[in-house]
Amino acid sequence: MSKFENPWKQNPWFESVAVAQERARKRLPKPVYGALVAGSERGQTIAENQSAFAELGLAPHVAGHHAKRSMETSVMGEGISLPVLISPTGVQAVHPDGEVAVARAAAARGTVMGLSNFASKSVEEVVAANPATFFQMYWTGDRDVMIQRMQRAHAAGARGLIATLDWSFSMGRDWGSPEIPEKVDFKTALRFAPQVVTKVRWMQQFAKAGVIPDLTAPNLAPPGGAAPTFFGAYYEWMTTPPPSWEDVAWMRSTWAELSGGRPFMLKGVSRVDDAKRAVDAGVDAISVSNHGGNNLDGTPAAIRMVHPIATAVGSQIDVVMDGGIRRGSDVVKAIALGARAVMIGRAYLWGLAANGQTGVENILDVLRSGIDSALLGLGVAGIDELTPEHLLVPDGFHRALGA
Ligand SMILES: Cc1cc2nc3c(=O)[nH]c(=O)nc-3n(C[C@H](O)[C@H](O)[C@H](O)COP(=O)(O)O)c2cc1C
Repeated sequence: MSKFENPWKQNPWFESVAVAQERARKRLPKPVYGALVAGSERGQTIAENQSAFAELGLAPHVAGHHAKRSMETSVMGEGISLPVLISPTGVQAVHPDGEVAVARAAAARGTVMGLSNFASKSVEEVVAANPATFFQMYWTGDRDVMIQRMQRAHAAGARGLIATLDWSFSMGRDWGSPEIPEKVDFKTALRFAPQVVTKVRWMQQFAKAGVIPDLTAPNLAPPGGAAPTFFGAYYEWMTTPPPSWEDVAWMRSTWAELSGGRPFMLKGVSRVDDAKRAVDAGVDAISVSNHGGNNLDGTPAAIRMVHPIATAVGSQIDVVMDGGIRRGSDVVKAIALGARAVMIGRAYLWGLAANGQTGVENILDVLRSGIDSALLGLGVAGIDELTPEHLLVPDGFHRALGA
């Protein structure tokens, strides 16, 4: 007789990003989960990033649908099987395989991996897992240091560079910030023990892999030197004078020279005038983004800024957006308003926490099927046909900053 199987037992597969988030919340130690939720100050922007999508309606057809729908596209010359890229995040301590698991999942599902310079895995390992990797840099260190980091990313095979320049070192959240240890040694492990011992499955993964979460940034190591701690790297960043538009143009042209013309994205654009300056600085792409609401609180939801910016510069460069994407129909809404594709942050972090590489693949599958379902309902044969007419856009929805 076969062993009795409880038919209500949860399958590790999850049906939505919200379910993945709930699993991540249960699985992760409180400070790690809190670090992923992030957000800043009163949490206005992080909440708006998602709620603004709910203000947009869809205008479906009842018949005349297309039996086949296409969603392949390209961003910065990189062909992708769905219009969703992995946005760079420091995924430290979420899973022992960290960014390598995310990169493998992105490769398995035919999309681009964005790798943060604060990542816990090296650019060499990540490119080996997914050759379609864009390396992300903040404006930190002096120009020589930045050149050396660009050279390393290029030598590793990174196919593009993302410069994220919107960070404003906002401190403090009304709901409190999680404590992040300087380094996870035995002493710290004991101090965090009460929060961690209840998370047996999360600990077991690290025990099985024979590692403890190591809060260092290997991609910021000097040649032949040790990786700085997360705090050491953050200090360097905080004490670096902020970049000018000349610096943006310098970074773009330096990357082009040393990489033989590989593409460059400026991430964190909110204003139409900045988007135009980015075009003047020679970028190939921008991401309309408020850093997932982790930055300057009170900036509008990213989706509200897409249409004015895409209208201004979308014919010259690739305009992608990130912030608040939690379902396939969100992706369709962003594309209908002029984005070429979107990037996701927390959605894949929840998947990674819930089920490693398979969990990230699950997230990409959830988004793919949601995009396909929206395309079917809207009666279009592919994402290229989407226009604002497929949406119900309330009056005053868009925010044209600096137009
Ligand atoms: C925990 C966390 C860490 C992040 N780290 C980085 C980073 O290192 N570099 C970067 O460009 N953006 C970083 N971001 C921002 C994401 O790339 C992206 O802009 C944001 O998460 C999009 O919003 P979403 O999470 O609602 O999808 C981070 C976001 C989160 C939540």
